[in-house]
Amino acid sequence: MEALRTTDLRAFYGKAQVLHGIDLAAEGGVVTAILGRNGAGKTTLLQSLMGLGPRVEGETTILGQSTAGMATDTIARLGVAYMPQDVRVFPKLSVRENIQVAAHSVKSPRPLREILDVLPEIEPKLDSPAGTLSGGQQQLVGIARSLSMRCRLLLMDEPTEGLMPRLVTQVGAIVRRLASEGVSVIIVEQNVGLVLDIADVIHIVEKGQIKWQGPPDQLVSAQVLDRYMGVNVL
Ligand SMILES: Nc1ncnc2c1ncn2[C@@H]1O[C@H](COP(=O)(O)OP(=O)(O)OP(=O)(O)O)[C@@H](O)[C@H]1O
Ligand SMILES: [Mg+2]
Repeated sequence: MEALRTTDLRAFYGKAQVLHGIDLAAEGGVVTAILGRNGAGKTTLLQSLMGLGPRVEGETTILGQSTAGMATDTIARLGVAYMPQDVRVFPKLSVRENIQVAAHSVKSPRPLREILDVLPEIEPKLDSPAGTLSGGQQQLVGIARSLSMRCRLLLMDEPTEGLMPRLVTQVGAIVRRLASEGVSVIIVEQNVGLVLDIADVIHIVEKGQIKWQGPPDQLVSAQVLDRYMGVNVL
C-alpha cells in the first residue's frame, strides 16, 4: 500500500515560503532518501508531514488518509513515527522508561527483547537516566523508541549525525530491516555513502523543490551529486 503521497506540498513560515510544490510518493517496504544542502527544506518537509510547525498547502495522504487539518498525535496514530533531527530523550527517565513511553502510544508495541537484538549497545544502559548518555547513545535511544512503535511510515531526520562509523552502518542495517518488514522509511541524510548503500530511491531537494529523483546508481552516474550537492564522488 502507498504509505505516503504529497501533491504540490507547499510550506510557509509566516510569509516566507520554504517548500515550493513537493510531489513525493513512497510505498511500504521502500527506503526513500532525501538529500540536499543545509537550509534546502528537508526538515521542513518532514515537519510538514507531521503537522508540526509550518503552515502547509497542497495535499498529503498518509496510509490512505488525507491528513489535512489533522493534529500531530492523530497523524502519529495512523502509524507514523518521526525521529527529529535533534532527538530529544526524556533526560530524567531511564532508557527503559523512554522506550516504554513510546511503546505505550501504540496498541501492539515491538517487544523490548527484539529492540535490544538490533541495538545491543543500549542494553547495559537500560536503567540509566537517558540524560547521562552520550549524544550518539541518545540517538540510538531515539531509534529504539521508533522501533518500539512498529510504525508503518518512519520519518528520520539525519539519524546518523554524530554517530561513529560502526553505528552508522548499524543504523543503515536497521533501516533495511524495517523496510523488509514493510515499513516505508523516509530518511533525510547528509551521509551520501550511507544513502547510496541503503536507499531504493533518492530525492534531491534544493530551495524547497525536488530537483532530481532516481535510484542510487543513477545518482552517481548522472553526476547529480556534483551538481546539486557540491560532492564530487567520481
Ligand atoms: N521555525 C522557522 N521559522 C522561520 N524560518 C525557518 C524555520 N525553520 C526553518 N526555517 C527556514 O526554512 C528553510 C529550510 O530550513 P530547514 O530546516 O527545513 O532546512 P534543512 O534542509 O533541514 O537544513 P539542514 O540540512 O541544515 O538541517 C531555511 O531557510 C530556514 O532558515
Ligand atoms: Mg534539517
